[in-house]
Amino acid sequence: MTLSDLESSRTILAVSGLTKTFGALKAVDDISFDVAPGEILGIAGPNGSGKSTLFNAITRIPFSATAGVVLFEGQEVHHLLPHDIATAGIARTFQRESVFPSLSAIDNVLTAIEQTRRGGSFQRNVVLAEQALDVVGFPATLHNWRAAELPIFLRKLVMIGSAMALDPKILLLDEPASSLTPEEIERMRALIANLKAMNVTILLIEHVLPLLTSVSDRLMVMDQGRIIAMGAPDAVIRDPNVVEAYLGVAI
Ligand SMILES: Nc1ncnc2c1ncn2[C@@H]1O[C@H](COP(=O)(O)OP(=O)(O)OP(=O)(O)O)[C@@H](O)[C@H]1O
Ligand SMILES: [Mg+2]
Repeated sequence: MTLSDLESSRTILAVSGLTKTFGALKAVDDISFDVAPGEILGIAGPNGSGKSTLFNAITRIPFSATAGVVLFEGQEVHHLLPHDIATAGIARTFQRESVFPSLSAIDNVLTAIEQTRRGGSFQRNVVLAEQALDVVGFPATLHNWRAAELPIFLRKLVMIGSAMALDPKILLLDEPASSLTPEEIERMRALIANLKAMNVTILLIEHVLPLLTSVSDRLMVMDQGRIIAMGAPDAVIRDPNVVEAYLGVAI
């Protein structure tokens, strides 16, 4: 085994030169980073710094990068169709709520499965959906409740369960703790730790910094489409560049 083989075996996701422009705006500007299998990479940054655009460009949902390479387990995935990227093992949740309000919790998860696991029988897909809701701790008694009737924390569990139903190796979570109470944030922290214990690699965008710093192995901070700091969370949040980027914003 060569040194580069050894290095690639410790990298599940390698992003290189990723760029997304909107007209003159470089929302994601030549971003490169690696993610190790099983790690939680926290991603912070002021509003509009390009965090969600980074997730969009990696997953191609809803748009592709303008330039750059995404290697997943050593294979280029940036040219795959979005559902093939998901099937390969990269699943995501959205910053905005993405549940179907009129569908039940279980039907929301089934819909996600049917979009990527074509060919599975309905009965098999129902079992997978039930398992995914169990994995995220969604109460079995509420499987048939319409999403619109559920409190926000449970709707977030439906979103994460829909992603977990794809049996991902990497899960991209975009602000899972937004709009939650402190007690719910603690439950979200426990869920994220559980998913890590199940060997899911996680990229976690979050503005709730105590959650982000407590759960992340490394923290990456973005500003104006670029990475301005990367490393151990405690050191990164004291980095002068990070403090300056957040000036005027409580961190
Ligand atoms: N579809 C789009 N069309 C045009 N501009 C966009 C689009 N999506 C994002 N942008 C712009 O790209 C920049 C980065 O936005 P992005 O949503 O990635 O930021 P963010 O770091 O996720 O912010 P927040 O913390 O507020 O969620 C912003 O200036 C935003 O207005
Ligand atoms: Mg965002």
